[in-house]
Amino acid sequence: MAEVFQISRHSPNQESGSGFQQSTKEELWKQVEDHAGTGIGTSSDSLMASFYQGLLAHSQKDPTIIDMMAQAVKERSTSDRPIDPNHMSFVVVYAINYLMMFGKKYQNYPEYFQLHDSPENWHHVFNAVLEDEELTTELAKLLREKELMSPVAERGNSIPFFVWQVCGDKQPVTAMDLGSSLGFPWMSAIRDTADNYPPFDDQTEYKGRTELLKAARARPLAVNTLYLMDHTDPRKDRDWIRACRYPGYATAEGVQQMDELMKRYAWGSDPKVNFIQGDVLLVDKMPDQGLVGGAIDVVTANKLMYELSPEARARLTEEIMPGLISDSGIAIVQDTVKTKCGKLRVSDTRDPWTSKTAIFGAITNYQWWIVLKHKTGRCDATRNGPDFKKFMEVTTSLPHNNPQ
Ligand SMILES: C[S@@+](CC[C@H](N)C(=O)[O-])C[C@H]1O[C@@H](n2cnc3c(N)ncnc32)[C@H](O)[C@@H]1O
Repeated sequence: MAEVFQISRHSPNQESGSGFQQSTKEELWKQVEDHAGTGIGTSSDSLMASFYQGLLAHSQKDPTIIDMMAQAVKERSTSDRPIDPNHMSFVVVYAINYLMMFGKKYQNYPEYFQLHDSPENWHHVFNAVLEDEELTTELAKLLREKELMSPVAERGNSIPFFVWQVCGDKQPVTAMDLGSSLGFPWMSAIRDTADNYPPFDDQTEYKGRTELLKAARARPLAVNTLYLMDHTDPRKDRDWIRACRYPGYATAEGVQQMDELMKRYAWGSDPKVNFIQGDVLLVDKMPDQGLVGGAIDVVTANKLMYELSPEARARLTEEIMPGLISDSGIAIVQDTVKTKCGKLRVSDTRDPWTSKTAIFGAITNYQWWIVLKHKTGRCDATRNGPDFKKFMEVTTSLPHNNPQ
């Protein structure tokens, strides 16, 4: 594995600035109330709701944690690590996880695994943090420095479908994953076989054919080079990644599962994988390494959009990703998105099936199309999206899908 180069993070004051608005405490209060009410992400983990209900109740008596979050958003807004208040409202969960699992004081704090199953029990956790100066300082540091890094291999389940359908046997492909974290989606797409890909409920169907994603999964995918790009080098921040899990998975067993996945998808010695540490919003400004200007066959951004400001999201999907792909290449976004006049927007509804896979390229006439929808952000149940039929019609007419 060659480390190709490193570029620094963007600053909101730079030309490419993401334009985060100054956060207010009111915004964060609203986020926490919202998550407490709807139990964001709770389709697979009801403990998220109990975390936010606990935080809300605790903050009504002592608003220190929300004040710390607001302070961190404010400080970051003028640094090269800006953070959207919405994203901060998630980072706090994992920062608390981290303190209880790997922090200086409570390393492997065994009771944490039993503590966090009700809003009342969270109260004790927050008190433990706030009553200890060292822990409070560590929390402030995490809020100032971290992004949510949770990697999910299931998000790779649809990649072979798109590559086979659009690129056919024009493989190996050159691929790039933006906001890759540990690169699980792509590592799974190229390494897992038909027998051992992460299980998911594939409800796709077209003209009597069903489980189209699973059928594509059965054919090994070949990459020429896979570029993984992230702010953070995941190899240097493994404990943070271990902590970046819903509280329900932040158990000894969950940590062990994550360690097994890290081993299974490790790319350290794979010559086809290059990690670029840097800001994806600056990728078009980095020294040309054969990447910029349309050299990528498939570029993906899995669960990256929601961590960006609205301005940065637009730049990602309207400039950065379109600028990276070759004439026949495709861009793929998996996130809670919707389309408006062919452009991609984040959808803030928490309903099931709000997570989507959207694609863009010559094949879509340079409009974003929503081809798949997923029951959760983990992409473990998938159905046809609104543009699925249109996508199948244009791609099934491609020569590689019509062998004579
Ligand atoms: C929720 S994780 C998703 C990880 C992975 N793509 C997946 O789906 O399993 C989002 C990742 O995006 C990264 N990230 C957020 N903003 C970024 C930026 N501007 N430049 C580079 N990486 C960024 C974070 O560090 C984090 O690793």
